Amino acid sequence: MPFYQRLGEVPRKRHTVFRENGTLLTEEVLGLEGFSGNESILYHLLSPCRIQELGPFEPIVREEWVPEAHAHRHMKTMGIEPGGDAVSGRRLLMWNDDVEISLCRPSAPMERYYRNGEGDEVVFVHEGRGTVETIFGDLPYRQGDYVVIPRGTTYRFVPEGEQRYLVFESPGLIEIPRRYRNEYGQLVEGAPYYNRDIHPPTELNTHRERGEFPLTLRVRDGYQSYVLDYHPFDVVGWDGYLYPWTFSIHDFEPITGRVHQPPPSHQTFQGQNFVICSFCPRKLDFDPDAIPIPYHHSNLQSEEMIYYVSGNFGSRKAVEVGSVTLHPSGLTHGPHPGLAERSIGVTETHELAVMCDTFRPLKLTTFARDLDDGSYWQSWSEEVAPGATPDDDPAGLTSHF
Ligand SMILES: [Fe+2]
Repeated sequence: MPFYQRLGEVPRKRHTVFRENGTLLTEEVLGLEGFSGNESILYHLLSPCRIQELGPFEPIVREEWVPEAHAHRHMKTMGIEPGGDAVSGRRLLMWNDDVEISLCRPSAPMERYYRNGEGDEVVFVHEGRGTVETIFGDLPYRQGDYVVIPRGTTYRFVPEGEQRYLVFESPGLIEIPRRYRNEYGQLVEGAPYYNRDIHPPTELNTHRERGEFPLTLRVRDGYQSYVLDYHPFDVVGWDGYLYPWTFSIHDFEPITGRVHQPPPSHQTFQGQNFVICSFCPRKLDFDPDAIPIPYHHSNLQSEEMIYYVSGNFGSRKAVEVGSVTLHPSGLTHGPHPGLAERSIGVTETHELAVMCDTFRPLKLTTFARDLDDGSYWQSWSEEVAPGATPDDDPAGLTSHF
């Protein structure tokens, strides 16, 4: 999606004869919006329609938790048990018709190949490194990366070491915000990242093995299994604008101002009816009278989920690395009592956090219920707020709520 890429061998002109050792290769156009959106053209050894066996279809089951009361929520997630792989290990935390937000702490490599046939995916890598093997080639990833996987990409995570992800899946497109791009797609001056920060697949390995290769396709709100008799990564070359890529949260250039900048300045991706934002270490507002932590705000048309990645959040009640807060629509939220006063004159923050704001309400799962601390809603009351001690690291102030 970001810019034109080519890996491996492709013919001089599209839709023309292209052979390997005398055998005509199969050309596949993989594209969006009919034939008018971004696309890539891939050249396969075998027809990608080829299926040896139809397996079972498993509908997706979401166990909804409807809380007794509408309130701010705080969930601690660091202690969740590892399990499954990079896809089967996803545990849905909250969702609506536009986006599903899951936690994943895989404990095993993927035995199956996977393709999301009905949505784009962004996997934020909180911990771990490895390679996503894809039909477009190998995509290395490491801690802090957003791994962006467009629909239709066949892939397999090959992790190295402990892994922990925050996963977004959307039936709509997940894109670079429109205002960051000029009419040709180049990222403009003033955007918080540049094309150079976007990392496409590095190496195309053409697999020629035959045998039994299990493939799971997410489609029609379920998982359809197939068995192929050839390795799905049989591409000898491809080119185009549609492919998976990574972008590191550490390469996000924070935008600061003399007074407080609103959350859109942290926007990293745009989705359909939601945004994903990155809160990164930065200098804070520099007017001598600036209050560098946010004003209270009512997200009248938004739900706000924040995942705390690293930094010292000791000045927020009970919030720690791996915490998820949910500030739902209809309620006001803002700094805890005393923090606005204490933040005056603070010059920098070391926080790292990922936020997802949705326009439509988020439903919670029973998994979220089990992680919910049940008391976060009380944390703005003076008598129960812990207050910050003078010994706290002032740079540990959480600069967004
Ligand atoms: Fe907020």
